[in-house]
Amino acid sequence: MLNESIRYHHDQLHCDQVALEDIIKSVGTPVYIYSLPRTLSNLTRIQRAFAAVQPHIHYSAKANSNLAVLKTLVEAGIGIDVVSRGEIQRSLLAGARPANIVFAGVGKTADEIRYALEIGVGWFNVENVAELAFINATAKPFQKPRVALRLNPDIPAPTHRHIATGHKGAKFGLSIATVKDILSQRHTYSNVDIAGLHIHIGSQLHNTEATQQAIEIALDCIRPYPDIRTLNIGGGLAVAYSQDDPVPDWETFAAAVTPLLTGYDVILEPGRSIIADAGILAMTVLYTKEQATERFLITDASMAELIRPALYEAHHEIIPVRRESDRDESRYHIVGPICESADALGHDVPLPALQSGEYLAALTAGAYGMVMASNYNQRLRPPEVVVERDGKTWRIARQRETWDDLVRNDVVV
Ligand code: LLP
Repeated sequence: MLNESIRYHHDQLHCDQVALEDIIKSVGTPVYIYSLPRTLSNLTRIQRAFAAVQPHIHYSAKANSNLAVLKTLVEAGIGIDVVSRGEIQRSLLAGARPANIVFAGVGKTADEIRYALEIGVGWFNVENVAELAFINATAKPFQKPRVALRLNPDIPAPTHRHIATGHKGAKFGLSIATVKDILSQRHTYSNVDIAGLHIHIGSQLHNTEATQQAIEIALDCIRPYPDIRTLNIGGGLAVAYSQDDPVPDWETFAAAVTPLLTGYDVILEPGRSIIADAGILAMTVLYTKEQATERFLITDASMAELIRPALYEAHHEIIPVRRESDRDESRYHIVGPICESADALGHDVPLPALQSGEYLAALTAGAYGMVMASNYNQRLRPPEVVVERDGKTWRIARQRETWDDLVRNDVVV
């Protein structure tokens, strides 16, 4: 969706004060473009909404782990939430202090756990009894790591089934009974400090009630242990992908949950809410096609660059980079070059008649876009451009992959 940074100016789509056409002409398409001003203003809005509990914010690097984005957020003073050694390494490269890293994940390997202990991450979010036992056994020579137990509160999250994580049958977290059991014998885990609980019932949450219930269950688990003061309530703040997307705004979300959290140390792990609407995917129309009753625009972006529509039937607004109001509008399927019928970025998108060579932008693509891109069909992963904090200058933050990159790891005999 359009916002203060991604907007038309004299009918030309801009990212802050930079015309997208300038970037496209220099870098080519497909290309991801992120507004750092919008990224920072999203962070400020979250901080303001949750001000009553002064949360520690750990940006969820899985949403977008571009180094320029990470560095900007680290410099703004927040921590990072990671789920792999790769994300830890990127966070460190971006300047994060290990103590400001929260290490989560349902399947941490022994190597990853050892590495995280060596560098001294701030928290382990633990999801498995065997994982807890391993961390405890391995942590002896190191400074006692803090552990938050990830609770599976058995609450169906109000979101797409692929991104719901808090129901009983999910692979995530520890059941209420297991959490209570661990807490009752937590002193047997003498090399770690079990100092908090973690919940994350899902992403893009469409109401606040499910999170309120989950927090109440978590509070109930720790009530007998007054020295446990930290509650990590995960991510999940939703973003509107269209005008009529019925999502609670962050102020409403915060107003619903902060009264429950007073007196606790609160950790938030927002990913999507910080970066989704700061990013766009720009593409070029390669061909037009009319077949049976359908009209297609075939673009040089595909499900390999933005898989959300194919994977979750997610909606992204797709708009022309140059707005020309005198052209007739029709409805188009926006499809890519990949040999799959699922390879569509949008259906029935109202657009003016475009010619090959003209540009389109998929909006709200900053989160779970580039990080989920693949080389399927041996495509090159696209470059990432950032518009700097001044809103005027831009630079390539990651180059487009090359044909050599595609064969770099092949072993040819
Ligand atoms: N914390 C944990 C433990 C998580 O699993 C996630 C996201 C987050 C924080 C960040 O959540 P957010 O603030 O972004 O909602 N690929 C999907 C989304 C997957 C979310 C995975 N976990 C999509 O494109 O919608």
